[in-house]
Amino acid sequence: MKILVVGNGGREHALAWKLLQSQRIQQVVCIPGNGGTATTKGCQNLPLRVDDFEGIARFALVHNISLVVVGPELPLSLGITDYLQQQGLTVFGPTKEGARIESSKYWAKTLMQSAGIPTPQFAVFTEAEAAIAYVKAQGAPIVVKADGLAAGKGVIVAASVEEAQTAVESLFKNGFKTVVIEECVTGQEVSVLALTDGVSVRPLLPAQDHKRIGEGDTGENTGGMGAYCPAPIVTPALMERIEQEILQPTVEALRQRGIDYRGVLYAGLMITPQGNPTVLEFNCRFGDPETQAILPLLETPLEELLLACSQQRLEQMPPITWKSGTAACVIAAAQGYPGVYKKGDVITGIDQAEELGATVFCAGTQLKQQQLLTDGGRVLGVTATGETFDEAIASSYKAIKCIQFEGMYYRKDIGHRVRGAGFLPS
Ligand code: GLY
Repeated sequence: MKILVVGNGGREHALAWKLLQSQRIQQVVCIPGNGGTATTKGCQNLPLRVDDFEGIARFALVHNISLVVVGPELPLSLGITDYLQQQGLTVFGPTKEGARIESSKYWAKTLMQSAGIPTPQFAVFTEAEAAIAYVKAQGAPIVVKADGLAAGKGVIVAASVEEAQTAVESLFKNGFKTVVIEECVTGQEVSVLALTDGVSVRPLLPAQDHKRIGEGDTGENTGGMGAYCPAPIVTPALMERIEQEILQPTVEALRQRGIDYRGVLYAGLMITPQGNPTVLEFNCRFGDPETQAILPLLETPLEELLLACSQQRLEQMPPITWKSGTAACVIAAAQGYPGVYKKGDVITGIDQAEELGATVFCAGTQLKQQQLLTDGGRVLGVTATGETFDEAIASSYKAIKCIQFEGMYYRKDIGHRVRGAGFLPS
């Protein structure tokens, strides 16, 4: 079986790596892939753009691709699934209409409201003045969200009315036509990613990401600086509630709107101090870096699950099986990220990190004359597993210390919510 993975992040490297563990998979082709997928045995990169649907379809048809797995939200929101399905291809990922759950915050909030899915109170504005008046009336802290894809920069948790006002003005100035203003809820954020075939839902193990650049969850928002799985805060009883009160009703609400949603439904949840789950956002894809911490624990062959979703027969699949223990992923970023950063620095030490038992997933990297170079803000993710949470975290940090590139930065407190504030690995 040959599988095509669309995307170039750590998530896509992790997907390709996991798929290639199955005897049934001959080859994984990544479009466009990165320096890691270029050097993974059984994997090959194809330099096409993720929005070149015609080129992707042509390649997939000529090369008998059994399944196309779409990683990022952009091609999904542009309708890659609709296009490839029309060409007769099997695709894992929702259609353009389904991807609105991520590409339009307003649409997603309305869906949740009408289906009775718990989510913070909100109001929607198409003019800055009205939005600012609302912010002033509500007070801070308050959350300002762009209605549209914003590459991780569309959500501002404003600590003051002035900050919220600046956020509103800058979003409208940057071309967003609609903003959502949302009540700020406190608690612990968790990511629950579920596979769905549009009817059945199978949650994966819960994960926790670290969105801020700085230790102690300070500084600017990033795509995610590290993750672990499973997240102990999500007990089996809470997971049952998340499935019954959030995931299943959302898929049902999508179906009632005529949307046959086949792919990942990623619920970004806040677990309130009272222990109740509420939806901060939905994403229409695998999370990154969460996927780099979830997949190393998965025992069921990944392609069986993805094909079952694409062919709407998830109900017939046996329960998903998992390895015991924890997986922890620490992201190494380029100096300056999430702001301006340099590219083209030589990366060394990956072999040594892997000799210690870790798996290094590449993200912003490229292979040039047989050298692995930095090529993005989040450069790589070092994942290690362990029987205990502490073991997994300690092994990831031991391994990341083997890796070098100029200006390499990583957070030293991944896992602090579990281990208590102030944890610094030795
Ligand atoms: N880690 C956050 C995301 O994938 O959106």
